[in-house]
Amino acid sequence: MTCRIVVFGTGYLGATHAACMAELGHEVLGVDVDPAKLAKLESGEVPFYEPGLDEVLKRNLDAGRLRFSDSYKEAAEFGDIFFIGVGTPQKKGEFAADLRFVDSVVDTLTPLLTKDAVIFGKSTVPVGTAARLGERARALAPQGVDVELAWNPEFLREGFAVQDTLEPDRLVLGVDTERPGRAEEVAREVYAKLLANRVPFLVTDLATSELVKTAANAFLATKISFINAMAEVCEASSADVTVLADAIGYDARIGRRFLNAGIGFGGGCLPKDIRAFMARAGELGADQALTFLREVDNINMRRRTRMVELARDAVGGSLLGTRVAVLGAAFKPDSDDVRDSPALNIAGQMQLQGASVSVYDPKSAENSRALFPTLSYATDVVGACEGADAVMVLTEWREFREMQPSLIDKVVRNKVILDGRNCLDPARWRSSGWEYRGLGRRA
Ligand code: UGA
Repeated sequence: MTCRIVVFGTGYLGATHAACMAELGHEVLGVDVDPAKLAKLESGEVPFYEPGLDEVLKRNLDAGRLRFSDSYKEAAEFGDIFFIGVGTPQKKGEFAADLRFVDSVVDTLTPLLTKDAVIFGKSTVPVGTAARLGERARALAPQGVDVELAWNPEFLREGFAVQDTLEPDRLVLGVDTERPGRAEEVAREVYAKLLANRVPFLVTDLATSELVKTAANAFLATKISFINAMAEVCEASSADVTVLADAIGYDARIGRRFLNAGIGFGGGCLPKDIRAFMARAGELGADQALTFLREVDNINMRRRTRMVELARDAVGGSLLGTRVAVLGAAFKPDSDDVRDSPALNIAGQMQLQGASVSVYDPKSAENSRALFPTLSYATDVVGACEGADAVMVLTEWREFREMQPSLIDKVVRNKVILDGRNCLDPARWRSSGWEYRGLGRRA
């Protein structure tokens, strides 16, 4: 059955969700307050880099199943089903999540509704938000209009957003158990094609569904910080964290994924989500349960400092007056997202310590420049490496993983390569006369 769906927010989450819901055959309206983003999307251009999304977008625009608008009135008239996919960034100067965008969708939309509606929240929110928004929606809805609020957390990874939306490993739905309604039935219609492919579908209460999302991200962050803590111990004992990760990863209970030691996690999700989780647990009087996440955060932030130290060491003790090439600025490969990117953060720290830093990233130059305008940006690997005293690989783009030393042998001043992601083959570089150093590995 074709549903009429509105998706609020056209960022990484919302734009992907809107295009993919159209791909499932539904009629979709994407709504945002940013006219520049809307203009791009309407013309078939994805405003950020996400592999495969532009094809899905174009195909569904052409088929007439997907449109964009800035009008909440139009949205209210068009849709029966509404998804909230706006951002929940960290509040300035505190750990808690800033919920103003989510709140504003509910406040603006519900008074305009003309017929019964189900609103599904997808944004990552502190537990308790859905119940609060449900109350708000019921209070603001016009008389005679029944509005139901459910939560349908999103687990997509940037770089795999389309695949994660169309072939998710699970679907989770939180419903208001005190007010049984149509949310489950509606979700089953929306996701009928996925459910036919036997995607696990868990229906639970609102609070659990909110917590599933935060718990998943907290676990992933913990896993990364665990291996980075092991990297610190490896560094202190001349052991090799990559071999250690391979060896423990064979234990199916542990698993090798998300055990890549390096400069740690960044991006628009894990860092702010673990902080918001701690803040919320504190409000609930359960702060002790999550004090370990502070350590997870500390271990993670220490890796950035450690990487700068490694570079300082490699160039002879002081960065002052040195030239450093930074390969990679995005928080991870196949993304142009530089929000809380460890790579860009390290590049900035290097510059503050007196190095002249030349950054190259295949996709994030524009976003990087907006955030760190004082760094210099090269348009390719060779350009970034010219005259370099050290080359740092800080995001594991394929282009860097597969790079041959001969590409930059002649342009650098010193053949020193520093692997912030343990993504290079040390033997390849050493056999070409390079000094190779990785985090958590023997010098
Ligand atoms: C993360 C989660 O993986 C998604 O499931 C979730 O939906 C999303 O956040 C979200 O909350 O929206 P994402 O931020 O796209 O997805 O990126 P990840 O693939 O999780 O990587 C996060 C960071 O961890 C990156 O900086 C990456 O380089 C780093 N990382 C990852 C490591 O340092 N080591 C690893 O082994 C894996």
